[in-house]
Amino acid sequence: MSDTQKPNSDNSADKPKLWGGRFEGSTDRFVEAFTASVQFDQRLYRQDIAGSRAHASMLLQVGVLSKDDVDAIHQGLDQIQASIEAGEFNWSVAREDVHMNIEAALTELIGDAGKRLHTGRSRNDQVATDIRLYLRDACDDASAELNRLMQGLLDLASANTDTIMPGFTHLQTAQPVTFGHHLMAWFEMLYRDYERLQDTRQRLNRMPLGAAALAGTPYPIDRAITMELLGFDQVCENSLDAVSDRDFAIEFCSAAALCVMHMSRMSEELILWTSAQFNFIELPDRFCTGSSIMPQKKNPDVPELVRGKTGRCNGNLLALLTLMKGQPLAYNKDNQEDKEPLFDSVDTLLGCLRAFADMVPAIIPNKDTMHRAAKSGFSTATDLADYLVRKGLAFRDAHEVVGMAVKHGIENKLDLADMELETLRSFHKAIEQDVFGVLTLEGSVNSRNHIGGTAPSQVKLAIERARTRVKH
Ligand code: ARG
Repeated sequence: MSDTQKPNSDNSADKPKLWGGRFEGSTDRFVEAFTASVQFDQRLYRQDIAGSRAHASMLLQVGVLSKDDVDAIHQGLDQIQASIEAGEFNWSVAREDVHMNIEAALTELIGDAGKRLHTGRSRNDQVATDIRLYLRDACDDASAELNRLMQGLLDLASANTDTIMPGFTHLQTAQPVTFGHHLMAWFEMLYRDYERLQDTRQRLNRMPLGAAALAGTPYPIDRAITMELLGFDQVCENSLDAVSDRDFAIEFCSAAALCVMHMSRMSEELILWTSAQFNFIELPDRFCTGSSIMPQKKNPDVPELVRGKTGRCNGNLLALLTLMKGQPLAYNKDNQEDKEPLFDSVDTLLGCLRAFADMVPAIIPNKDTMHRAAKSGFSTATDLADYLVRKGLAFRDAHEVVGMAVKHGIENKLDLADMELETLRSFHKAIEQDVFGVLTLEGSVNSRNHIGGTAPSQVKLAIERARTRVKH
């Protein structure tokens, strides 16, 4: 089944409103379509049905509904779920939203028992419950994909603990680093995204049901029963807050925006690295496309698209923050606007994660090109300065000496490691034969041998520690 099916919009005359009692005139056709949400909230059908099942079971246990009614409700809901999943359910705009579509269909199916389902609840606590259930799954799905991506990164990093590349600041060659170390930086970014999703999930797994419209309900409900049945960790403590706030959706959109922003940064590097000028890596053809006019082109479409998708995630976050900011307690119809941005962030996050989890393990580093690039650009200049400090110079003086050596290298197209000892000594007498040990790329990375440093031995340890953090 596709995510949404086009609802039927020309049948309002034969569909009396579930709330129609106090109304004399019928709803304007345009207003009906304008205020409806079924076009997009039908995506919540599974959560809505699960919530209704649990609510009915609870009403049976506390003696508000009879066993016959609740059996009929359960059977009817099963049948409706099957018909939705078979693509046979007739979604109606006249019935406004997913909740009333399902409730009305239930009553058509099982008669009066269907009309009793809504006892002791409101669409206000119903929709808040549905979204939380939906987002709980979204957090789990995104976490699983993130996990897959992180595993892929760890494998690629393991294979490249001693692959040397230039490290950049200001996108200018700074110091040599290992490719494995660079990948582990990506890992750390993503691991925090993973933690944020876990944290978001934990705070959203609280149940609004029982808050009813805003003040609670006079029926002898037992919220612990429903909570247990739906797998919530706690109930929302305050009924007004429970039906009103969407901070949990904002938290999700924020976690999603951060995660996609991280993938966008990774994308930017992948795009640079695949260019002919860098040529640090190859991306397999299946993640790229060609150009209709330039036969030589192999465009890194997947990373480019992921970079582009950051915009909509940021937009969705801002939309929800703005949606919430002026609302008085408790529920307001404004909140119906929470769904489209939220669903879009869920889809975008999952899509980007999936693409990255597939693509990252397939990255092929061009180790020779990386090594050559690290050798040019005086990437071991700091190492020479540190060498002079060990020989007794103050760091500022050492910096000055190396600056002159670099100037000489630029003028004569010579790397520091390629200069004669005598040339180097002309900049400072403290320089001796052992200097060549620190001017090599290998010497440079090996010397940064502490936790968090780029030395291959440290990167190996970092990968080992990381493996214990991600689930297998
Ligand atoms: N479709 C509504 C929403 O998404 C459901 C809750 C409506 N409640 C109400 N009293 N109108 O927020």
